[in-house]
Amino acid sequence: MMESFLPPPDDWLVAPARAQPGRTVALLGGDGIGPEVTEVAATCMVATGAPLELVRPPHANTFPAESKEICRRADAILFGACDKASIPVLRFLRWELDTFANLRPVMTLPGVPARTGSVGTRLVIVRELSEGLYPSREGELADLNRHWPEFRDRMGRPLPKAGKFALRVITEDAVRRVARCAGELAAARRGRVCVVTKANVLLQTDGLFLEVAREELARFSGVTCDHLYVDDAARRLVTSPERFDVILTSNLFGDILSDVAAEAMGGLAMAPSAALGASNAYFEPVHGSAPDIAGQGVANPSGAILSAAMLLRYLGHSDAARRLIQALVNTIAKGVRTPDLGGSARSQDVCDAVCGFLR
Ligand code: IPM
Ligand code: MG
Repeated sequence: MMESFLPPPDDWLVAPARAQPGRTVALLGGDGIGPEVTEVAATCMVATGAPLELVRPPHANTFPAESKEICRRADAILFGACDKASIPVLRFLRWELDTFANLRPVMTLPGVPARTGSVGTRLVIVRELSEGLYPSREGELADLNRHWPEFRDRMGRPLPKAGKFALRVITEDAVRRVARCAGELAAARRGRVCVVTKANVLLQTDGLFLEVAREELARFSGVTCDHLYVDDAARRLVTSPERFDVILTSNLFGDILSDVAAEAMGGLAMAPSAALGASNAYFEPVHGSAPDIAGQGVANPSGAILSAAMLLRYLGHSDAARRLIQALVNTIAKGVRTPDLGGSARSQDVCDAVCGFLR
């Protein structure tokens, strides 16, 4: 499936501009290929000519308080990838900064073969990032039994005596604030939000998610809201991703669906994301740390570059953001592709080509 459709560049810029334009960007490479792709994205960002001040807070092995302070004060943060070593960084970015709305756009790019769907996918997954099954609340069933001996499942049975449990938490306030984000985004796009849950099984947690999301989305005139169960949504993301506009879902479902959806844009390495809070935001490619290719200089920096474009727009540099996206599109069209896209380019070749188009 070769694509020749270019979504309007503004479709990528799904993170709204922050109230005040900013220039300080904290770079956190993280683990594996994270530092490589972050440095490429930073070089490309600077090559747009946008007025930026880059800072690199130390974060290898430990994440000291001074580094957190630098990140808090920065106007935006660009993060690379997280394996075990950077878990403290991820915890800080998500739960200490309370970046609760994770926007993950998936758009087909010209010349990048989509591995799912047909021409013209232009969707955004809005993933609730603060609760659900994250940041993980787990324990021993024996302890839970001791504290809550009268607990019964829907069949009226007590819990097994031994084993582990995980808690899935959904709160009304958290759903409301992320649903508002999805509503605002849809109102500026094609006006369609699809809420994704497993409310047929998780009657209480996803029952609440669906009810509150519907209520909040109903406040947006011109925005329609429908609903899919997550298994059905996954299937449709494979067969017909082009049918979606905005998908609103809880934390773990958003994690899984965004990996599935990324195949529509040629694979996980291409997909960018933004995580927005009330006063901080961080930007990060959706892919992981890819330890198998770390340090070889062959990682595809596209997801990081597109994340940097989202960051530029968030800082108020929309024109620089558009030019950066176009430069990446031109680079791929010219055939400068890393091995995951069937080419033999190195990350640095992609960087050089993108910067060349920005000159
Ligand atoms: C993501 C990642 C993370 C997540 C991991 C690294 C903890 O998969 O951002 O999609 O599960 O949220
Ligand atoms: Mg993931």
